[in-house]
Amino acid sequence: MKMQKAWFYEEYGPKEVLKLGDFPVPVPQPNQLLIRVHSAALNPIDFKLRQNPLALLDFPVVPGCDMAGTVIAKGQNVTKFKSGDEVYGNIQNFKLEKLKQLGSLAQFIVVEDNLVAIKPKNVSFEEAASLPVAIQTAIEGFKVANFKEGGSIFIVGGAGGVGSLVVQLAKQFYKASLVTATTSTGKVDFVKSLGADKVVDYTKTCYEQVVEKYDLVYDTIGDSKNSYVVSKENGRVIDITWPPSNSKAIYSGLTVSGEILENLNPYLESGKLKAVIDSTSPFHFNNVIKAFGYLETGRARGKVVISSISSASCDIINGFCNT
Ligand SMILES: NC(=O)c1ccc[n+]([C@@H]2O[C@H](COP(=O)([O-])OP(=O)(O)OC[C@H]3O[C@@H](n4cnc5c(N)ncnc54)[C@H](OP(=O)(O)O)[C@@H]3O)[C@@H](O)[C@H]2O)c1
Repeated sequence: MKMQKAWFYEEYGPKEVLKLGDFPVPVPQPNQLLIRVHSAALNPIDFKLRQNPLALLDFPVVPGCDMAGTVIAKGQNVTKFKSGDEVYGNIQNFKLEKLKQLGSLAQFIVVEDNLVAIKPKNVSFEEAASLPVAIQTAIEGFKVANFKEGGSIFIVGGAGGVGSLVVQLAKQFYKASLVTATTSTGKVDFVKSLGADKVVDYTKTCYEQVVEKYDLVYDTIGDSKNSYVVSKENGRVIDITWPPSNSKAIYSGLTVSGEILENLNPYLESGKLKAVIDSTSPFHFNNVIKAFGYLETGRARGKVVISSISSASCDIINGFCNT
């Protein structure tokens, strides 16, 4: 049996319950790809599950949803991809009753072929890994709100993993007439650089002081109980945190699909849409606990990414290192 390294936990708790250990390299099912993971990204769901005994997970759990890597084998029913293809995706289909026990913080993972897309050539593995969960979430909110081109949008939390993409989508895809986003003082210029027309420094200005009212309040931080005040009377309020803190806000989740990523590829290739990676990243695979510590501060600017995964401790991956 071929073995690999993966981060895992066997009990709920803080980041210190994470351990690096040996796991069998999985065998792809007929509709699955075996991927050598180059980069992964962390999402709040990864630590929220780890901290929540009510999640009823089957241990051991290898956390991680997002990855970018290379196809090294495939099941008999897969026709869309071949060995050597560079792909990216969110490997966890949240609509299923159980998540995969082997998440993306592993050197080798298996994933259904309909959950991944070919990685654009001009996008690095780190950039590609940073995108799936955040962009799938960002897009879903616009759909759930039935946001129309030319509408105005107020984004609560424009600097985070999801928010930094919502700002870009509002401008590039939805041609919003007015894009306003909130952030703290040190990130105002950064959020402007993503395409926001106006940035509200929430340390200095409260919602009540915002003059305009918006067609859509897109709340990425779970503050809809307060942020709704900038909504027009007939406007929508989207909250991506569960449960929304305002009963009038509409919760928006995500659809996990490779097709969504495929449709975005032209925008990534042309540079119209950019992956946003926090300046502390990439973290080396050996520093996953440190990376979680940073994400868990809630202050990340864009995404927290892990790199050098497939090359870490390569000597233990007999047979796969040189493929
Ligand atoms: N519904 C879904 O399917 C789904 C999917 C993905 C994520 N989520 C949830 O959505 C939330 C955001 O996820 P994420 O990946 O974007 O998190 P994240 O990257 O950790 O967000 C960090 C950002 O939040 C900003 N922030 C924190 N407090 C703020 C405030 N009061 N006002 C404005 N900005 C604030 C921070 O900016 P400052 O430092 O400037 O404050 C920081 O840049 C999480 O709760 C996550 O669990 C839900």
